[in-house]
Amino acid sequence: MKLLTVMTSLLSLCAANSWPNFILIMVDDMGIGDLGCYGNNTLRTPNIDKLATGGAKLTQHIAASPLCTPSRAAFMTGRYAVRSGMAAEARIGTFVFSASSGGLPQNEITFAEILKTKGYSTAIIGKWHLGLNTEKSNDFYHHPLNHGFDYFYGTTMTHLRDCIPGNGSVFIVGLVEITKKMFSVVCLTLITLIFLNYTGHVKSPWKYFFYFLLFIIIVLVPIIFYFWNYRYFNCFLMRNFQIIQQPLLYENLTQKLTKEAVGFISRNKHKPFLLFMSYLQVHTALYASQDFRGKSKHGIYGDAVEEVDWSVGRIINELEKNQLKNNTLVYFTSDNGGHVEEISSYGEVHGGWNGIYKGGKATCWEGGIRVPGLIQWPGVIEAGTVINEPTSNMDIFSTVVKLSGSSVPQDRIIDGSDLMPLVLGKSITSDHEFLFHYCNAYLNAVRWNQRNSTSIWKAFFFTPNFNPESSEGCFNSHVCHCYEGYVTQHNPPLLFDLFIDPSEKNPITPEMEPNFYNILKTIQQATGAHQKTIQVVDNQFSWSNVLWRPWLQACCSSWFDFCYCDKEEELGMS
Ligand SMILES: *[C@@H]1O[C@H](CO)[C@@H](O)[C@H](O)[C@H]1NC(C)=O
Ligand SMILES: *[C@@H]1O[C@H](CO)[C@@H](O)[C@H](O)[C@H]1NC(C)=O
Repeated sequence: MKLLTVMTSLLSLCAANSWPNFILIMVDDMGIGDLGCYGNNTLRTPNIDKLATGGAKLTQHIAASPLCTPSRAAFMTGRYAVRSGMAAEARIGTFVFSASSGGLPQNEITFAEILKTKGYSTAIIGKWHLGLNTEKSNDFYHHPLNHGFDYFYGTTMTHLRDCIPGNGSVFIVGLVEITKKMFSVVCLTLITLIFLNYTGHVKSPWKYFFYFLLFIIIVLVPIIFYFWNYRYFNCFLMRNFQIIQQPLLYENLTQKLTKEAVGFISRNKHKPFLLFMSYLQVHTALYASQDFRGKSKHGIYGDAVEEVDWSVGRIINELEKNQLKNNTLVYFTSDNGGHVEEISSYGEVHGGWNGIYKGGKATCWEGGIRVPGLIQWPGVIEAGTVINEPTSNMDIFSTVVKLSGSSVPQDRIIDGSDLMPLVLGKSITSDHEFLFHYCNAYLNAVRWNQRNSTSIWKAFFFTPNFNPESSEGCFNSHVCHCYEGYVTQHNPPLLFDLFIDPSEKNPITPEMEPNFYNILKTIQQATGAHQKTIQVVDNQFSWSNVLWRPWLQACCSSWFDFCYCDKEEELGMS
């Protein structure tokens, strides 16, 4: 008996030592300029900064997309989101209804799936945002547990202003638009009926008008009802397949996520694990728990950043406590840049800071895609390493898969590449000679890291139309868009050299740069070659895939009980 115990603990020790653990931390909408290690001197992020000083800091770490869902799809699969159909051609670029049928397709392979086959224990704690159901309200087709994770605690959706009462709505603009249109249709119908009555074509116009009005009301009322109660339908907390709190109570959420993370690490200390820690902070509506509220110098936004930092510290602490630190790779990033247009209804800045970089979330200016990238692995990655070469959040896929002793799938294109040679100093140039910057499904810009040169060229095929009052944002539409009517096309493309102009202030002209047309030619050729590799797949953001389907609505109580439940409260956990 004793021998057996010794043997099992030896075995688990071997297992623990052979493959590293992974903790992949992603913050939502955090700007690169929010962190001390990227130059912020007023926000306090000591725990995150320690990851930088204790490991490698990537200064040119690029998100595959400036928007949550496509960026996360690319992160999970190591592939541009257009390859999996997770990039929108329609107007909505992320899932905004929990009862949409779109999501990460089953034929995509996530790093969690690969690590699971290697015997890793895999968990995602926090935000998923890659779909839930597809045919029924409980088929969980796109759920994280069907994409390689053993454990899930969090939300399959995103966080939104509409999730916390009193924070306004991201749908108001759209709803006002619809109401206005309906109103003009009603007026037009009325005028037409009166005219037809006058000419003797229609006998009693009021009757028809009444029917018509009734029809409009029948359509409009449920829509308004739905959005009024948005948080009941879309902001809920799940543990694995079960909804445990609907609607979600946010104030202590990060505390709960942290407790879950710490619990997961301690449960798995004897076997290899992968933890994807995906914070809902610092997306609006902003929240922070008691201990952090009002403590930062930057309002509730700063409070939220500092709470995330605290949580990162708790997780690292737990690694230290269990002597796992030297055997664990910790990665830290944000899904996209800070959302500069987020100003609260009372005028407080609620969006992140992108430092010297232009624009933010939803644009392919550097502010939208250049995100923090930190990798710590004591004893393996030298403390204080700084990598200025272009890297991508898709690289994590290849890095994690290789380090787990697996090889990346050969039956498909993987756009990420293993980061280890770069961070270990075995290679001095990044594999990404070219990076393609997508805004939804549209190729927005291309980055050329020219070999044997300091230049990092970036050519824009189009740029978002900024609000005339501001050179930095799309304040009148709340967020920039990348489709017709909201963009300016550039032919020839707008060219920058990020090495000398990281803030993208001065487009290069043929007069300034004798090689102007050659540079563009090289970029066009690479673009052509890249575009040939993009296959047509089912778009997960087609209108029918993004719109609300009542029969897919996940609900933890009967509809008469308003989809309300709070199993967390019952357990005395919140
Ligand atoms: C630090 O971050 C805050 C909050 O995003 C921002 O307002 C401030 O300008 C930043 N400071 C520096 C020096 O970057
Ligand atoms: C972890 O690695 C560091 C750096 O190589 C080393 O100094 C330390 O002793 C190691 N700690 C353990 C517990 O092995």
